[in-house]
Amino acid sequence: MRVSAALSIAVTLGSTAAQDTILGFNSGASDDKGNAKNQQDFEREFKAAKSLNGAPGEFNTIRLYSNIQWNTPSTPIAAFPAAIATNTSLLLGIWASGTDNIDNELNALTAALDEHGSKLADLVVGISVGSEDLYRVSEPGLRNNAGVGNNADTIVRFIKDAKSRLANTALKDKPFTHVDTWTAWVNGSNKAVIDEIDFLAVNAFPFYESERDNQISNAGSLLNSALTATEGVAGGKDVWITETGWAYTGPAFGAADATVDNAGEYWQEVGCKLFGKRNVFWYTLRDANPDNEVKFAITDNLSTTPRYNLTCPADSEELPTPAPISSNSTTSTGNGTGSSNETNSDSTASGSASGSASPSATGAAQGTGAGSLTSVSMVNSMAMALSVIFALAAWAL
Ligand SMILES: *[C@@H]1O[C@H](CO)[C@@H](O)[C@H](O)[C@H]1NC(C)=O
Ligand SMILES: *[C@@H]1O[C@H](CO)[C@@H](O)[C@H](O)[C@H]1NC(C)=O
Ligand SMILES: *[C@@H]1O[C@H](CO)[C@@H](O)[C@H](O)[C@H]1NC(C)=O
Ligand SMILES: *[C@@H]1O[C@H](CO)[C@@H](O)[C@H](O)[C@H]1NC(C)=O
Ligand SMILES: *[C@@H]1O[C@H](CO)[C@@H](O)[C@H](O)[C@H]1NC(C)=O
Ligand SMILES: *[C@@H]1O[C@H](CO)[C@@H](O)[C@H](O)[C@H]1NC(C)=O
Ligand SMILES: *[C@@H]1O[C@H](CO)[C@@H](O)[C@H](O)[C@H]1NC(C)=O
Repeated sequence: MRVSAALSIAVTLGSTAAQDTILGFNSGASDDKGNAKNQQDFEREFKAAKSLNGAPGEFNTIRLYSNIQWNTPSTPIAAFPAAIATNTSLLLGIWASGTDNIDNELNALTAALDEHGSKLADLVVGISVGSEDLYRVSEPGLRNNAGVGNNADTIVRFIKDAKSRLANTALKDKPFTHVDTWTAWVNGSNKAVIDEIDFLAVNAFPFYESERDNQISNAGSLLNSALTATEGVAGGKDVWITETGWAYTGPAFGAADATVDNAGEYWQEVGCKLFGKRNVFWYTLRDANPDNEVKFAITDNLSTTPRYNLTCPADSEELPTPAPISSNSTTSTGNGTGSSNETNSDSTASGSASGSASPSATGAAQGTGAGSLTSVSMVNSMAMALSVIFALAAWAL
């Protein structure tokens, strides 16, 4: 019994395999022309998500970036009534950069709860406070002009604010998270955020990791590196994948070419190994940032006919082992965190709180080099060390 307890903890650190998992998409507050989406737009999108030809399950959960309707100060987003009308589950997002408080976000959310009550609350699978804020204030984020972010102390304060404002509402028992890149998660400066949340949420794009050998055939092992590193610091908390996907058109990043074939291969060789095993929000059904030359949408005009084959092979198993650290990459000035340069010109310019979907701008996501790559091995050893400690703790019980 002691041995099996220790083993199960070690397995949890290595990978998860829950059966009843989330299949979802990200949904920006604007469309790919920068226009606000209205309720009908969201409804069409949510219906298309659930009806994709050949999909390996029902994509019935949507991750939002903000509770606020695009280009308004604090009007509740039209995605709420659309989700109720289409029975779509929601990972709520509170936009947490370019501001020193999240009052408008919380006002919009509590107004929506006043209006819709448990019809809305029952659809909520979690609440994320922030998206890539920590990456944007990190050294690589700053170097790459990734946009306005916020530091760990502020994110922790915002999470506490959200918990306190929602404590007497129908959302009081929902799990809290924060979304960030794996490089932000493994950064010890951000540990207080991990301590404050119920599960971790990671955005990971091998497509953007141009300082590593990120050709499509290596994408699975690169993604696995990002997941393994994040799990290594998660302290046994669950890790959800809140953004991953491969561009079908636009400029190449390093060895990553944006083609329909590669986007389809990433779905088959990486996505199909995640679906049903982990909570995944694919990037994406519908692009949402006019400034990004790189496009990810798997359908045109919300057609239920996808751009590539969504049917998973019968024998999808595990991701390939994490990518080894290549000798030259540790000396590279480096590019990819797998982050998405989620700058949104509208929201950062106005300081208003509406998160459009990432990945955004054309120059796009660059990230850490030496630092992050070193972290992978440190984190791997840390995960092993932790499992030994847990094994000892279990033995002591
Ligand atoms: C709503 O969707 C959930 C799954 O997310 C399902 O269990 C439930 O039966 C659906 N309700 C209706 C009324 O279709
Ligand atoms: C780690 O986080 C600190 C605090 O935000 C930041 O200054 C630093 O650049 C980060 N390090 C890396 C390698 O991202
Ligand atoms: C970083 O990314 C840019 C843009 O994709 C690319 O031109 C450059 O070669 C990359 N640098 C490295 C070291 O990979
Ligand atoms: C998408 O819809 C728009 C507006 O209805 C239309 O102009 C455009 O041709 C459509 N594109 C495709 C690929 O069907
Ligand atoms: C789609 O992919 C599945 C799994 O790889 C395969 O079995 C099926 O034949 C493919 N369908 C088409 C039309 O290529
Ligand atoms: C890393 O090494 C490989 C193989 O030795 C080489 O093809 C690649 O160009 C190198 N990348 C960088 C960024 O130096
Ligand atoms: C990120 O996006 C912003 C805004 O579009 C842009 O100014 C910046 O150059 C981008 N960063 C990189 C690394 O391309």
